Amino acid sequence: MQDFIKQIEECKNLNELESLRILVLGKKGKLTEQFAKLRNLDAESKKELASTLNAQKEEFNQAYAKKFKILEQESLNEKMKENIFNFTYFDKNAQNGALHPVMSTMDKIIEYFVSLNFSVEKGPLIEDDFHNFEALNLPKSHPARDMQDTFYFKDKRLLRTHTSPVQIRTMLKQKPPIRMITPGAVFRRDFDLTHTPMFHQVEGLVVENGQKVSFANLKSILEDFLHHMFGDVKIRFRPSFFPFTEPSAEVDISCVFCKGCGCRVCKNTTWLEVLGCGVVDPNVYGFVGYKNVSGYAFGLGVERFAMLLHQIPDLRSLFEGDLRLLEQFR
Ligand code: DAH
Repeated sequence: MQDFIKQIEECKNLNELESLRILVLGKKGKLTEQFAKLRNLDAESKKELASTLNAQKEEFNQAYAKKFKILEQESLNEKMKENIFNFTYFDKNAQNGALHPVMSTMDKIIEYFVSLNFSVEKGPLIEDDFHNFEALNLPKSHPARDMQDTFYFKDKRLLRTHTSPVQIRTMLKQKPPIRMITPGAVFRRDFDLTHTPMFHQVEGLVVENGQKVSFANLKSILEDFLHHMFGDVKIRFRPSFFPFTEPSAEVDISCVFCKGCGCRVCKNTTWLEVLGCGVVDPNVYGFVGYKNVSGYAFGLGVERFAMLLHQIPDLRSLFEGDLRLLEQFR
């Protein structure tokens, strides 16, 4: 055995080492043959020889493993010298990842508002009735509270149905002035061509001390934002209703699909609704203990923005995980 150990020491490369291993431990190897002899021995001598052979095998394996490491490193160093590893090599067929269009749209929205000094706030996905409904001035009888629209847990907590509760959480935590957006997932019991049970919203809130903030401020920032997102589109504000804003408006842009000719997406109206907004209802300030302030808020659906930006006709294709969709956004 000492002879083999010495031979291991003398091996100059991995090939030689492997040949030696086969010579000793291969199917017809020297040590393997010795092990085969155990079969014909009586119990006593079997035990004795087995213990000697196992010790020899162990000794060989240890010396082998040690040498293997050294030779492997040497061979790697050789290859490096030969420049077999070309770190500047570029594989044209390599598959690159891509941001999901919902995430890249979200990033574009966030970047716009961060550039205007808005902070980015986060809130929990599991909410309670107070933050999701009550403090937003949604009366107990409001249909949005219905089991039909909201996922409730047994203990009356719920999956937030919009990002607006983060307005409340931020106002409870901070004093005005506030200038925030909050992006994130929201949940509703809905599933058809244009609705999925989970989708994303970005909510915005600005509150100033005194009567500094008006609907005109809201209108100008949203017009600038929508031009930033969609380029040269027409924009209109339509009177609407939300419990937490008064006055409220829904905002439309001219249809990006038909550019004003009328099509299926805009239902021949030539307009597409893209967000809701308004001046914060004074009742909301009552729930968070704010006095003598003014502010505005807005909320939008990120999937809808992504669909309009990339002309994706079916909302559900954003959630099917089909790589062919992602490949178009690389
Ligand atoms: N929370 C509303 C929704 O989910 C969106 C919204 C509308 C948010 C108007 C606002 C707003 O802050 O002012 O449909």
